[in-house]
Amino acid sequence: MLVVGPNGAGKTNLLESLHVGTQGFSPRTRNDVELVRFGEATGRVSLRGRRAETPLELDVTLELGKGKRAKLNGGPLRAAELLRAEVSTLVFTPDRLGIVKGAPAVRRAYFDRALGRLFPARAGLSAEYGAVVGQRNAALRRVANGLSTRDALDPWTEQVAALGTELAAARRHALELLTPAFARLTGAFGLEAGRLAYEGGPVLREQLDERIARDLERGTTSLGPHLDDVAVLAGERDLRTYGSQGEQRLAVLSLLLAEAEILLERSGVPPLLLLDDVLSELDPERRATLARVLPEGGQTLITSTTVGALPLAPDQLLEVAPGTVHAA
Ligand SMILES: Nc1ncnc2c1ncn2[C@@H]1O[C@H](COP(=O)(O)OP(=O)(O)OP(=O)(O)O)[C@@H](O)[C@H]1O
Ligand SMILES: [Mg+2]
Repeated sequence: MLVVGPNGAGKTNLLESLHVGTQGFSPRTRNDVELVRFGEATGRVSLRGRRAETPLELDVTLELGKGKRAKLNGGPLRAAELLRAEVSTLVFTPDRLGIVKGAPAVRRAYFDRALGRLFPARAGLSAEYGAVVGQRNAALRRVANGLSTRDALDPWTEQVAALGTELAAARRHALELLTPAFARLTGAFGLEAGRLAYEGGPVLREQLDERIARDLERGTTSLGPHLDDVAVLAGERDLRTYGSQGEQRLAVLSLLLAEAEILLERSGVPPLLLLDDVLSELDPERRATLARVLPEGGQTLITSTTVGALPLAPDQLLEVAPGTVHAA
């Protein structure tokens, strides 16, 4: 589906509202106040669709000062963010380039969310590990300040090692799943075959213990997957450092499309794809490639300021003008 309209018309707003309505949160901001129309006290996204062949109704209401409520097929959810476990939506926006060129923390966050989508049972692992590292760091500071003894660290060190090992293994597994499709898609976009390589070692108790003097001094845990990174490569070239802007964009797009394929394979349901401002930076040949490699059977929304930017006739064309959307 192609979403067209002039700058400032509301194309990004439309995609954002679809993300809020299907995932329970904005891909752009954590501050839900920004999502409510100026001068209004509430905002609501109500969606009807299908998940594979099953009808689906989603409803997210934002009330200033009161927070968010979500319903799935009429039944209230405990938290709007739980929608994520029900529907997969993948989004590309220009600032997603950070996944390749940004700091390691941006990549960790991205791949941990991907991990949660690919292995729903492991979706909480990264947060659980993060909490344990936080506890260990707090314990380190208590010991350093003489408020507690060293053996108080042991249970946290134990858990950092256990959960850290699990998290690193789950991340490697997710990267292995994504890599073949990523290689094929980067190839289709004219890059050397893409590769994802996990950069991080095992987290053994002994290694954590060896670093204890330094960790006590700094009050932080200096080893573990909270410090690991993922190398995004094209052939032997590390795109984090040596990718052009366009190549980084194609790598992010390939990652997203690779995940869409794997999600479809694993769950039988294609994710909703929201591609914002992707065409403007691609040359005509790569736009044609994108049109060709878009997953079949699922739904993809692409925004553009001009109809001609997509090199094929879209199944549906939506025209956006300030405050309105209509099918052309
Ligand atoms: N909470 C809000 N209430 C009302 N209007 C808002 C709110 N937040 C943003 N806007 C306005 O929505 C307008 C449309 O923004 P949007 O980013 O969707 O445009 P766009 O069609 O994607 O434009 P572009 O082609 O430049 O990307 C902006 O002018 C912005 O000021
Ligand atoms: Mg926009």
